[in-house]
Amino acid sequence: MEISKKDHDLSVFDAPQRIHWKQYLIGGKMHTWSGEMEQVYSPMGQVSTDGSIVKTHLGESPLLGAEVGLEALAAAKKAYNNGRGHWPTASTSGRVAAMEHFLKLMIVKREEVSTMLMWEIAKNKSAAYKEFDRTVDYIRDTIEEYKELQRRGSSIASKDGVLSQIRRGPLGVVLCLGPYNYPLNETFCLLIPALMMGNTVVFKPAKYGVLLLTPLIEAFQEAFPPGVINILFGRGRTLAGPIMQSGDVDILALIGGSSSSNALVSQHPKPNRLRQVLGLEAKNPAIVFPDADLDLSVKQIVKGALSYNGQRCTALKITFVHKSVAETFITKLADAVDALILDHPATDSELTPLPERGKVAAMEAYVDDAVANGAKVVNQYAGRVNDTSFFPAVLYPVSKNMRLYHEEQFGPVVPVVVYDDLEEVMEAIAESDCGQQCSLFSTQEETVASAVDNMVNQVCRVNINVACQRGPDYLPFTGRRDSAAGTLSVHDALRSFSIRTVVATDSSQRKLVGLVVSGGKSNFMTTDYLL
Ligand code: G3H
Repeated sequence: MEISKKDHDLSVFDAPQRIHWKQYLIGGKMHTWSGEMEQVYSPMGQVSTDGSIVKTHLGESPLLGAEVGLEALAAAKKAYNNGRGHWPTASTSGRVAAMEHFLKLMIVKREEVSTMLMWEIAKNKSAAYKEFDRTVDYIRDTIEEYKELQRRGSSIASKDGVLSQIRRGPLGVVLCLGPYNYPLNETFCLLIPALMMGNTVVFKPAKYGVLLLTPLIEAFQEAFPPGVINILFGRGRTLAGPIMQSGDVDILALIGGSSSSNALVSQHPKPNRLRQVLGLEAKNPAIVFPDADLDLSVKQIVKGALSYNGQRCTALKITFVHKSVAETFITKLADAVDALILDHPATDSELTPLPERGKVAAMEAYVDDAVANGAKVVNQYAGRVNDTSFFPAVLYPVSKNMRLYHEEQFGPVVPVVVYDDLEEVMEAIAESDCGQQCSLFSTQEETVASAVDNMVNQVCRVNINVACQRGPDYLPFTGRRDSAAGTLSVHDALRSFSIRTVVATDSSQRKLVGLVVSGGKSNFMTTDYLL
């Protein structure tokens, strides 16, 4: 496809100091890697001494071998010690103290982490700081929710002649693999509840967004007992495969695609033992009804489809618009998209470069396929800006024979489908492999009522006249079909990473139970109420 016609001299800023990171954390010790390294480049260029724009080298990180991955697994297994380790049996106050200590150490790294978020994955300035702050809030809320969970378990019930105490216990060793688009927030939304519930973890960051985590490695080392969290760097296929083949992973916590999660699960010798906590692909639709407020719809669809250049699992990835309003809608949408600014993330522009290698070509391929099959690019400025930047393309009318109708583009391409009968839309949504969220645009209560009822069993969150999103984090975040396994929210994540466990006896044992509790020697059989 063509080069974007918008004037795009991206601003140029001084890059942060390079990070030559050679460490990895196993069994509470920081080890130094002397093997192959991954060179990390920013998607944004820089001015060189002769005035030309050159690639920005941000630093390097280890490409650890499979044997190191297995050492990390052994350390996590040892720390778990079949559920009898120090961490899985620690008291509530002990775990809370460790998490609070971590939080204290993390907060002072705000500037370093947020700056690297901007340079490594081109998240604009305010979104980078927001990702950090939101993660800090998530950890605080998780601590409070965990205390509440333990308070609820701090009582002994007596019913039908049975004395019982119920708490939630850990499951074992977690393999945690985060995504590149929210390398801090989404990763920590898995890691933190996994740790809080007493599991031990092997964690490997995604392919992009690696260096930004390095300022936090020492905080993990200092705050948690040896082996509770082990941090690896390198390629997923080198490290994660052998770890899964060992059969020693109890929870796979992954944000990514179902092809990766299926490949990993299939390598586990006993998949029945493996709990899966997964956030996977989505193709969230927007439906614009004939009675929609078109200005509001356009505003929300632009935000939903193009925040962080559409690289969000919750992004609106296809829009269905009723034919009676389609022409007006598409003109407004094309103008609104063309009004966006693509620039260096430090300028806080709405659009920024794309961190994934080959992403611009992938976006061009989607556009070319749609155009070859009858769609038009309806906005003026769509197209390649340079090797890492692509100005969004609005495609219309998109139909079933195009890749964009079915595939998750995960980038700045906005496909719009025209419909006549709502049944066509319902059929498309039911046939989709995804089932995360949708956005409905209508001003009329009859339309909204019937559309909500049609959609609630297709997806897991129906948004009315607003874009799809994950937050606020107290809401359940999950999906049907290929979009997720398990549910995440501050509350639900603690459940996803634990299992209910009961201690029971009959009422003849009342005295013994009382003595165990009052003796204060058990961390499970205690009625201490943590304030
Ligand atoms: O990539 C998926 C994220 O969970 C989306 O979160 O809706 O807050 O951008 P968000």
